[in-house]
Amino acid sequence: MTQRLRQTKEETPQGLEDADIDTSEELSEIGPEPVEILEASPRSEEEAQEFETMLQLGQNPRLSQIILDGNLIIRYVSPAAIELFSEYYRIQQKPFFNVFRQPLGTAELRILIMSLKSPDRGYSWSGTLQHKNPTLRTLLTRTVINPFFSANRTILGYIVHFENVTHKYNSRLRTTFSSILEAAKLKDNDTGQHNERVSFYSKRIAERLYEKQLFPQIDPDFIDNIEFLSMMHDVGKIGTPDYILQKPGKLSDLEWDIMREHTINGTFILSSYPNPMAKEIALSHHEWWNGGGYPFKLEGEMIPLSARIVTVADVYDALRMKRTYKREFTHEEALERIMAAGGTQFDPTIVRVFSEIHGDFADIWDRLKDTDAAPPLNADIDMSDVTD
Ligand SMILES: [Fe+2]
Ligand SMILES: [Fe+2]
Repeated sequence: MTQRLRQTKEETPQGLEDADIDTSEELSEIGPEPVEILEASPRSEEEAQEFETMLQLGQNPRLSQIILDGNLIIRYVSPAAIELFSEYYRIQQKPFFNVFRQPLGTAELRILIMSLKSPDRGYSWSGTLQHKNPTLRTLLTRTVINPFFSANRTILGYIVHFENVTHKYNSRLRTTFSSILEAAKLKDNDTGQHNERVSFYSKRIAERLYEKQLFPQIDPDFIDNIEFLSMMHDVGKIGTPDYILQKPGKLSDLEWDIMREHTINGTFILSSYPNPMAKEIALSHHEWWNGGGYPFKLEGEMIPLSARIVTVADVYDALRMKRTYKREFTHEEALERIMAAGGTQFDPTIVRVFSEIHGDFADIWDRLKDTDAAPPLNADIDMSDVTD
């Protein structure tokens, strides 16, 4: 199927006019000699014919592919590429970098343009592009741009291939970190499905905050990330000595100090994770809204939002769990305690949202509760005030 692009006034979708960028101006800011690559091409009738031939031959509707002319104007887009980008861009006959401007910073764009001009780099470029849409998860594409030539070895145009690597990238990254989590669980093996429940609760709060548009930083990527990364909140316990994790009685002050270090250790373990949310949650999930938490006694909005969400989830679950020094709390009791701690331990906005969806917390607990787990021993949350 041929998807030749035509550009007529009527076909230009509404709303895109504003986004138009004058290419010559835009590119002149980027490379030292941008005109070179924008040299009108094809330059002769013969080359024009060669380009048209290549435009036909190069099309592969099943690949996510775009063909550019020598001026980097989009001249063909495959059905697969239209589908891939349908929610991210309206692709039409425009300069490629007008349409795909957003995933590239100025520095990256400069490198890309230089590569397309450079014989040493085969007039080619490859890299990973992130395509964002505020209402969708970020799309990642492995992107390769290769030239095609005339009989006289002048560049007639370029073929751009996109491979959707979103799932591959995320699952590879998460598999590695899930293994670390499994290792941590082996040490702190009395937590049952605590991490999974915290993940469900945290996601639910984030979804509700997103629905209510309460925090601009919450988008589908945030929700997806908190779902995974909240599970890692206690990964730093891999560095906590067994005699503390498994001590049957209360911890001494010194032992508490060591227990608190799991927040710092967690950030070391997650230091190579590319999203800062991983470290934010590990480091700050025991901070209190009023500055009474640990490790740094951060206060209010100094505590990252992701950690403010996870702490409500974590404490709710800890309240519901049976421990050697406390019985299992009912949902109503846990609800009451969390509501009472809005503005002291917890962000009051998050507590308000929790109060609207608390029934989902009860459902998650019922669905994933640990039936035959031995009562957990020492927790990282000081529950000395909940011994009834
Ligand atoms: Fe913790
Ligand atoms: Fe926890």
